Amino acid sequence: MVSNQKSSLERVVEQHRQLRRFAASLREFVGGRGPDPGLRETPEWVSALGKKLMRLHEFLSRHFREEEESGMFEDLSMHHPHHCRQIHALRNEHTAILRDTRALLNAALDYSEEHPLPDRDLREWTNAVVAQFERHEQEENDFIQRIYDEELGCGD
Ligand SMILES: [Fe+2]
Repeated sequence: MVSNQKSSLERVVEQHRQLRRFAASLREFVGGRGPDPGLRETPEWVSALGKKLMRLHEFLSRHFREEEESGMFEDLSMHHPHHCRQIHALRNEHTAILRDTRALLNAALDYSEEHPLPDRDLREWTNAVVAQFERHEQEENDFIQRIYDEELGCGD
């Protein structure tokens, strides 16, 4: 692996770490007891959720663009030719993840006291979006980790 490939993969792995922190903070936020457990959430709670989701969406779109432009998917396919279909699917999944995150973000931004969403819906929806991008990044990490393992195995 040449050094610029290595540094761009390391950058990706570091961003995946940051995404895990995003995931943990969102899980904690929606898992915490609201001011009225079991009732609809307050506009303040939904507005705070909206801000977190906006930051997540910004981070994800920058991260996905960097991965696509860095040649990471080409590197992964080259190292794992038997998994190129799965790697291609991972790349295509970026669009779906951004679309789903945006849909949830819009629901939080559109929230109003006249048209509230049941809190359970927003909590479950957030957990589903978090689980989706976490699983996605974990799959990418697994492929990246195997490249590192192979390099070490060759005594590089
Ligand atoms: Fe990623």
